[in-house]
Amino acid sequence: MRLLDKVAIVTGAASGIGRAIAVGFAKEGAHVSIGDINLEGAESVADEIEMLGRRAIVVKTNVAEASDVKRLIDITIAEFEEINIIVNNAAMVGEPPLTCQEISEDTWDQVLAVNLKGVLLCSQYAVKEMIRLSRGGKIINISSISGEVYIGIAPNYHVSKAGIIMLTKAMAIEFAKYNINVNAIGPGLIESPATKPLLDIPECREFAKNAIPLHRVGQPEDVVGPALFLASKDSDFVTGQTIFVDGGFLYSHPTVPTNYYP
Ligand SMILES: NC(=O)c1ccc[n+]([C@@H]2O[C@H](COP(=O)([O-])OP(=O)(O)OC[C@H]3O[C@@H](n4cnc5c(N)ncnc54)[C@H](O)[C@@H]3O)[C@@H](O)[C@H]2O)c1
Repeated sequence: MRLLDKVAIVTGAASGIGRAIAVGFAKEGAHVSIGDINLEGAESVADEIEMLGRRAIVVKTNVAEASDVKRLIDITIAEFEEINIIVNNAAMVGEPPLTCQEISEDTWDQVLAVNLKGVLLCSQYAVKEMIRLSRGGKIINISSISGEVYIGIAPNYHVSKAGIIMLTKAMAIEFAKYNINVNAIGPGLIESPATKPLLDIPECREFAKNAIPLHRVGQPEDVVGPALFLASKDSDFVTGQTIFVDGGFLYSHPTVPTNYYP
């Protein structure tokens, strides 16, 4: 088991990619602390983890609120006495209107607060404990291909995900002296409750498949292997990186016909 008795916090683990990572970590022996605003979903993931014989707790947490994040860290330490890994996965897309001309100040602030400030706050509080315990640690931030290319989701979402890539580099350099690795994962299109409405439209699913060189939409489980790598000692000399998990989408060109790929 690659994470035997490690303690991992996963934010936004009530559904989708976060859920898959939390369960995947538990299958490798980790105990999991879930911070999410969706208590019902989080409780059911915690039950799933306990069925695997690992311990799990749920702390209702809005990652954009420092007091909530502090509570998540304090309760995790009270329960497990340490934090080895934190996966900063919680995020939102926000409400339309989605153009730079129309976007409201409130929507801008809300998405940046959850998606980018949330990563900073969770890392800040977790790192305090990792430093106090002097056993190093692993921080994994969930960015997106949207942090690298503009695919028209929403400017604030794209900016938040691009910000995570730079924040990952900044934290990697700052925390290296404490033996804390900081890396990011940039998923491409992954089937989850967030993308279900889009993928339920047959034309959208077909278009997406054709735009992805590996010719399929990703599943939350596709993100688990890279997350496990970044959480385990296999990645001890890797820091500041973003691994894109996108079926090759990012570095393909939309005008190149799919049969171009040999
Ligand atoms: N699904 C994709 O195609 C895709 C692609 C690229 C990146 N991502 C990123 O992957 C991560 C997970 O996305 P998903 O598709 O699984 O989405 P999802 O909507 O299924 O899960 C998001 C989770 O975050 C929680 N959450 C939302 N706001 C929160 C807050 N303020 N505090 C705490 N928890 C909060 C939700 O309750 C939910 O459990 C996100 O960071 C997302 O930006 C997803």
